[in-house]
Order: sequence, then structure tokens, then C-alpha cells
Amino acid sequence: MVFPKPSSESDLFLYSNFASRYARDSLPRFSMPENSMPKEAAYQNIHDELQLDAIPKLNLASFVTTSMEEECNKLIMESINKNYVDMDEYPATTDLHNRCVNMIARMFHAEIGENENAIGAGTVGSSEAIMLAGLAFKKKWQNKRKAEGKPYDKPNLVTGSNVQVCWEKFARYFEVELREVEVREGYYVMDPVKAVELVDENTICVAAILGSTYNGEFEDVKLLNDQLLEKNKQTGWDTPIHVDAASGGFIAPFLYPELEWDFRLPLVKSINVSGHKYGLVYAGIGWVIWRTKDDLPEDLVFHINYLGADQPTFTLNFSKGSSQIIAQYYQLIRLGHEEHNGELQRQCNGAEGKFGEEWAL
Ligand SMILES: Cc1ncc(COP(=O)(O)O)c(C=O)c1O
Repeated sequence: MVFPKPSSESDLFLYSNFASRYARDSLPRFSMPENSMPKEAAYQNIHDELQLDAIPKLNLASFVTTSMEEECNKLIMESINKNYVDMDEYPATTDLHNRCVNMIARMFHAEIGENENAIGAGTVGSSEAIMLAGLAFKKKWQNKRKAEGKPYDKPNLVTGSNVQVCWEKFARYFEVELREVEVREGYYVMDPVKAVELVDENTICVAAILGSTYNGEFEDVKLLNDQLLEKNKQTGWDTPIHVDAASGGFIAPFLYPELEWDFRLPLVKSINVSGHKYGLVYAGIGWVIWRTKDDLPEDLVFHINYLGADQPTFTLNFSKGSSQIIAQYYQLIRLGHEEHNGELQRQCNGAEGKFGEEWAL
């Protein structure tokens, strides 16, 4: 038998991978190894260790997309080395981001003219999107209170006790009191009537969930809007609504187009959605959309110019990958309204037991 002749040290390694000293000695866990190793050894060691993970496609507990088409995987690899924040270097990527914001905002019925750009941002997920939306509400409320000469040190936020942990994080990180409406036997989402009872002059917003993390149920945003309009009329306040549509934002427009939960309701000022859930992209993408420019206080937007021209940014982090944004754009144009509908029908049927019948009100 003839064995191919290794021509370099790394070739040599290929033929002795599992018998080499790199496979015999265990790798240090707490400090960097003193010596380097061939690339094949590094790959094999890590690859083998990762076999201990579950297979993502079989992970039914995942809240995120685990499978995309080969063409999209290709686009992801082609853009894996692009830093999204270098907008002047990567103007085409920036444009795809803006197209996504425009498409999603229109899907949520934002009040924008035909050729007007919507106000929104791509984020790492719904959690970052919620931090940004929450900060915008807090800032708007503070600015108003300051202008009225009233105290602005005790902001609060009203939600159901079924909120995802990111709302508790927002409240703790940014010092906002979280007022939770307790769920009760047989009613496992926020009761809009009780939520409005908790609102006072220090409430920066009421957050409703479209697709509760625990059972997928939609909260009644329309009832909340109507009750809050009534309270605002009586008190002279203008308490707004945020909709956490992390899961439902890419469900309701397709499966329940008549359901009014979005910018069709006047008090809904911002909405978040996870691109990596039913936006059908791998983990690492979310979106926050504001109803109008006035709903995002200008003093939260930073203008940077050291990467080229003036760039407005409103995100918590600076550098991030471009792949997920490009992948989101791929899904939007690839599936369109028509196929998004079909894909979601298939996924919701497949997810029976996880969400059961609870997707609708
Ligand atoms: C209702 C709701 N809001 C927010 C989040 C946080 O989303 P992300 O993982 O995209 O940060 C989740 C995640 O499960 C969720 O279900």
C-alpha cells in the first residue's frame, strides 16, 4: 500500500492526528498554552469537544432559528468578516440594514410616507432592542417632567409578571421601578385593565407582550390601548405603550393580519421583534422600530465621524457582525409575504405542544 508523502509539518500532522502529542496531552483550562499547535490539531481538538453539545436542529427547546438555506449560509460566510459599524466601508450592508428597518416598520403599519425612511435599528436581539426602547421612553418622560419643573427621579414601568427577564434587566440596569400585574389561575398574561390601574404620572410606558415567553399567548394590546387612552384623557397624562413582539412580530402580520396590536393603535410608540425567532435567522439579530422620529429623543443618538462621514448610532454596543443583518434581508426578499405565511404555518404546526393553540387571543 502506498501512503501519500507529507510535504510539510502540518501535512505530517494530518496523518498522525489522533496519535500526536496534541491529542494525548489535555489542554489547559485556565491559562493559555505555552506553545502553539498546528491548525489541524486546534481544529480537531475543538471540533471533537463540541460533539458533546446537542445538535441544534434537534434542539426543540431553542427559541431561535437553527436551520437556513445553503444560499443564505453562503452569504453569511461571505460577510462574516465585515464589522457592521464601519458603515462607510460597507455602504451596501448599511443599505440592506435600512431596507430591513423599512420593511419591518411597514409590516407593523408605521406612519411613514411611501419613500420615507422608517426609524429603527438592528440589534443583537430583542433584549438590546428593549433596552433601547426603554431608554427612549425614560428619556422622553424625563425631558417632559424637567420642562414642567416636576420631579423626574422615580420612573416606573408597568408589565405583566410573565415578562421575559430582559425587562427585569432593563429595570435594574437603568433604575426604573418595575410594576408587575400578577397573572392568575386560568389567565396567564397581563390583564390590561389591571395594568392601567397601576399607571401613574411617573409611568414611562406600559409594555405588552405579543407572544408570551411562557405559553406564546398574545396580550390584548387593543384593549390596553383603549383603556389607556381613557385614563390619559381623564388625567392629562400621555402614557405610551411598547409592544414586545419578540416572537409574535413575525407571526401576527402573516397569520392574523386583522389583529390590531401594532402602530395602528395610537399609543403604540415602539415595537421590538427578534429576527432570530420567527424572522427565521440564526441567533444574533433583533429589531426595534419607533412609530415616528419624535418618539426617539435626539439626545440618545450619537454621531460618530472617525470611520468616515457622520454616522448616527443608537445601539448599546459598537462593533458587531454583519452576517445576521444580511441573512435577515435574505429571508425578507426570499420568502416575501407569501412564503413567510407558508413557512410559519409549517413551523407553528411543527411546534404543537410548545405553543399549542395559544398563538391567537
Ligand atoms: C417576550 C420576549 N421578550 C424578549 C425576549 C428576549 O429576546 P432575545 O433572546 O432576542 O434577546 C424573549 C426571548 O425569549 C421573549 O420571549
